[in-house]
Amino acid sequence: MQNPKTSNQIIVRIATLAEREEIYRLRHEVYARELGQHAQNKMGSLHDPLDEFNIYILASLNGVLAGFVSITPPGFGSYSVDKYLCRENFPELAGEGLYEVRLLTVTNRFRRREAAGLLMYAALRWIESQNGERIMAIGRREVLDLYVHVGLEKLGHQIRSGAVTYELLTATVVRMAERIKSFTSLLNRLERVVDWQLDVPFRKPAACFHGGAFFDAIGPDFEHLERRHRIINADVLDAWFPPSPRVLAALQQDLPWLLRTSPPTGCEGMVRAIARARDLPPENILPGAGSSDLIFLALRYWLTRSSRVLILDPTYGEYAHVLEHVVRCRVDRIGLVRENNYQLDLEQFARVVARGYDLIVLVNPNSPTGQHVPRGRLEEALRKVPAATRVWVDETYIEYAGADESLELFATVSANVVVCKSMSKVYALSGARAAYLCGPAGMMEELRAINPPWAVSLLAQVAAVAALQDPAYYAARYAETHRLRNEFSERLSALTGWEVLPGVANFLLCHLPDDGPDAATVVKLCRARGLFLRDAGAMGRALGKHTLRIAVKDTETNERMLRIISGMNNRLLSNANEVSSLQSVES
Ligand SMILES: Cc1ncc(COP(=O)(O)O)c(C=O)c1O
Repeated sequence: MQNPKTSNQIIVRIATLAEREEIYRLRHEVYARELGQHAQNKMGSLHDPLDEFNIYILASLNGVLAGFVSITPPGFGSYSVDKYLCRENFPELAGEGLYEVRLLTVTNRFRRREAAGLLMYAALRWIESQNGERIMAIGRREVLDLYVHVGLEKLGHQIRSGAVTYELLTATVVRMAERIKSFTSLLNRLERVVDWQLDVPFRKPAACFHGGAFFDAIGPDFEHLERRHRIINADVLDAWFPPSPRVLAALQQDLPWLLRTSPPTGCEGMVRAIARARDLPPENILPGAGSSDLIFLALRYWLTRSSRVLILDPTYGEYAHVLEHVVRCRVDRIGLVRENNYQLDLEQFARVVARGYDLIVLVNPNSPTGQHVPRGRLEEALRKVPAATRVWVDETYIEYAGADESLELFATVSANVVVCKSMSKVYALSGARAAYLCGPAGMMEELRAINPPWAVSLLAQVAAVAALQDPAYYAARYAETHRLRNEFSERLSALTGWEVLPGVANFLLCHLPDDGPDAATVVKLCRARGLFLRDAGAMGRALGKHTLRIAVKDTETNERMLRIISGMNNRLLSNANEVSSLQSVES
């Protein structure tokens, strides 16, 4: 085993053929000499015909073999357990994606260390990467706890082999992965001590849950776009109005050429149009393909695992996801409370900020609450933030709060404030993907160096430029949105027990009655009627199970939503049994 450098990290990787010889010797040592499961042989080496097909994952420290685990994938037609039992008698073991995990073995010297946990975890991650569905194992009675702890369940069948008794166990890969994911501190510890050399990442890349489930009903392959008329996508906050006629004309006029042509590399024209429309210097602007693109670009560049970040709670879920699951840094939260309509208390903010953070993320107006901190007050609070702390102000919905509410200009002259401006929701361009950052020129220049060429499609650049040239059209749509939202809010508030939070943007946060159906049930029932809503519970730790976020649409669509929601509400209120059975199915 080669590993010239001294290290305290345990290497985990697939064993080479040469390393297998050492594994077979260890196998003999443990299973023949120590446990007496097999007869000893003169070669002092133990292997079997399945080894042609098995893979072995090893753990080693400074060139010393610490342990190994073997996996038999499907496709060979048999598994090691077939020597001891008839698999047909166990319906759980019938599927095609069945993997056997075998021979989890750790040498004496490493038995009290992390090696066993690492090997078991490595086996699971490898099987996950192969899209395996189910794991089966036989666990030695003496170490059964480990197997049960990671989610394997006993099938009530014992196997005797030589002097050793085993228990037959199985679990779906999803169940084991879910279970192991909950061992946060153990996984963090394992990650610190391992030199992970498998070609699967240590952690399965996570994704943030967004609205957008409505596309399942339309079909993500776009073959039946006409189905969009049958559904209402109030789970995402896309504009209810179309883009400006100028945008449509610019795209329709030259569509074939726009599709086949490479855009200006650095979105130069789009940047100039933003600068003109917002009265900002172009060097303070960095374009991107939607603010999601810019969030991933900047936050991953600025932050490391040892960074400390402050976010609001509740807030837009992508931030917690990127920080906790992608960057994996420390995240503190300012809890916004219902009693205060989830408004940010700026005195509390000043106290918390003084602790010293690498980054503060503020979504203003905030989602899912629709609450807004007026520009003057926010600027005053941000002037007091230590210069070493970057502040990210997400202004996706700012136009709804007022024409003069953006902090863009403030950001350009600041040392540490960046505004992230999505053009998706307020210019009706969610499908186009256009956004920009606005902040200190040096900071933008640094990010420009890692922004890929043609970051924004030509269609999106042309659409963004045309949209910025038609402020009157959009101002009229925002005014209409306020009227639509207020009417919709009044009607929703009239539903028995519903409390609707007054918000400034194109969505409403609703608290459902605590003794009625929860948000997950309402979402499910409305979805069956073509209405997609967002259960807001996961967007904040204190929102609970009875909060819904609903996008505001045009008058006719709001009426349709109200009919569906009140029909469902009346039915549920008159049939409490149905509610409890639905909720138990959900949980
Ligand atoms: C607060 C907030 N920021 C950012 C985004 C992402 O917007 P996009 O990537 O379309 O610019 C959203 C989308 O819902 C949002 O609500």
